[in-house]
Amino acid sequence: MTTIPALLGSLLTPTTLAGLPLSSRFAMAPMTRFRSPGGVPTPEVAAYYRRRAENGIGLIITEGVLVGHPSAGHEPSVPRLTAGPAEQGWRHVTDEVHAVGGRIAAQLWHLGSQREPVDGVASWTPSGVPSGSRAMTLADMDTLLAAYADAARVAVRAGFDAVEIHAAHGYLLDEFLWPYTNRRTDGFGGSPAARAAFPAEVVRAVRAAIPTRMPLIVRFSQFKERDYTARIAESPAELAVLLQAFTAAGADVLHASQRDFAAPAFPGSPRNLAGWAKHLTGLPSITVGSVGLTRDFFDSDALRTLLDRHDAGEFDLIALGRILLGNPAWVTLASTGRLDAIRDYRKADEDTYF
Ligand SMILES: Cc1cc2nc3c(=O)[nH]c(=O)nc-3n(C[C@H](O)[C@H](O)[C@H](O)COP(=O)(O)O)c2cc1C
Repeated sequence: MTTIPALLGSLLTPTTLAGLPLSSRFAMAPMTRFRSPGGVPTPEVAAYYRRRAENGIGLIITEGVLVGHPSAGHEPSVPRLTAGPAEQGWRHVTDEVHAVGGRIAAQLWHLGSQREPVDGVASWTPSGVPSGSRAMTLADMDTLLAAYADAARVAVRAGFDAVEIHAAHGYLLDEFLWPYTNRRTDGFGGSPAARAAFPAEVVRAVRAAIPTRMPLIVRFSQFKERDYTARIAESPAELAVLLQAFTAAGADVLHASQRDFAAPAFPGSPRNLAGWAKHLTGLPSITVGSVGLTRDFFDSDALRTLLDRHDAGEFDLIALGRILLGNPAWVTLASTGRLDAIRDYRKADEDTYF
């Protein structure tokens, strides 16, 4: 009998997330890979997700999948759901993941200002920040609500177990939450409740498009890819207003994106962002951020911290991002003590991992 399973402790035990049974407490974090020509995930993409699902990842969250409006994104190799054979491509992905007992959520994405204004399409933003982008009208909002709902309906048909709405990292929905990019003076800008209003409408539209019992996850962050110090909420009280808008609209799970899971979200408490999300709403939460990036992790306080804080109920799932790129079997290798077979994450190799 080896002592190794103790290394990942309770994280290897089955659980349910908003009613969805999962084989472990590990999720795969959503990661854009640019491997879906014409927006259609290939059989290689299906095999890529399957390799992680058969190696201890309870819930796969796909890379961002563009909702079906030209403003959502321009990159042809980023997957879609509603375009041509994309649904069939995803059906193959979900079948492969299910064949090994995994579960999979589709992440719905609109890039907002981060869509390059090419192909004659301006980037769509809450209030025309940055300049040159198109400040969304109320009619534009309706158009996108329909696009999110359509994508969610296709996700259900394609066999997904859950849907995640990407409202993090400075893309469209996060640009509504962030005062710097949301300068609207109507009911969709200003106070935290008003800034959350359009993202919450998206949650409501997606909730109405998927089965009642299907988990609906909302991913949010303080930081933006272009500004790591940016914040959508200056205090737990402000965060509560934003997250309660999502909860009231039908979110079941909150996925709090941080660059370092162990970083306190607010002064005065060690609680991380996922901890606050759970504390403020009572919903289950997913944490993420620099878990296991190098083998030092196994000898460090970080692993102990992760386990203790999970076991204390601060958060429910742990999403692994970059370390899973080069190590599809990270959980299997760690849980069976084959630490030597794990390779440290290296940014320079990122594009070669699949
Ligand atoms: C190559 C790459 C692509 C990413 N694409 C997405 C994405 O499509 N959607 C998203 O919400 N986050 C995306 N992220 C962020 C990850 O989901 C995750 O939050 C981040 O990598 C931190 O987790 P880690 O330290 O375990 O890697 C991406 C990260 C990487 C490295």
